[in-house]
Amino acid sequence: GLRYGKVLQLTLAVIKPDAVAHPLIMEALHQKILEHKFSIVKSKDLVWQRQDSERFYAEHEGRFFYQRLVEFMSSGPMRAYILAREDAISYWRELMGPTKVFRARYTSPDTIRAQFGLTDTRNTTHGSDSAESAQREITFFFPEFHVQEWMERLEPSFR
Ligand code: TYD
Ligand code: MG
Repeated sequence: GLRYGKVLQLTLAVIKPDAVAHPLIMEALHQKILEHKFSIVKSKDLVWQRQDSERFYAEHEGRFFYQRLVEFMSSGPMRAYILAREDAISYWRELMGPTKVFRARYTSPDTIRAQFGLTDTRNTTHGSDSAESAQREITFFFPEFHVQEWMERLEPSFR
């Protein structure tokens, strides 16, 4: 239908254990979130058990990187944010850059993963890739948050 301007969305952004281990990187990422006019709806620091990691990344089960991914994601503290912004989902993914750090450094050196990522697995941040995954992932990290209700209010077409 007709739309005036872009749509306000929620996304889930996660600072992964490799970055949380470095206070200066955490600070730089937090500043970047504010600088790019995201509203922080909620945030929390947490540590995953291995089974949380396996559940969250179930879609990748069987891929060559799965074991190292689930191990890494349960290796230490993370910070999760629910972020709101016009076009939050694609905007945050643009800021993160490509999944693979060495490709990111080559093709998009200004992105978070290019600047701070260590390896394809220890790649600093996560971001939801669609409205459906944002809903699932926000609920995964913030089960008490009424995500469906928020999304319906922000984006009437999300039903
Ligand atoms: P994926 O969903 O493809 O990437 P993104 O995080 O950009 O949505 O993969 C999920 C995570 O799996 C990724 O952030 C890091 C890890 N991973 C690897 O360790 N090696 C790889 O080759 C790929 C594709 C992903
Ligand atoms: Mg993904």
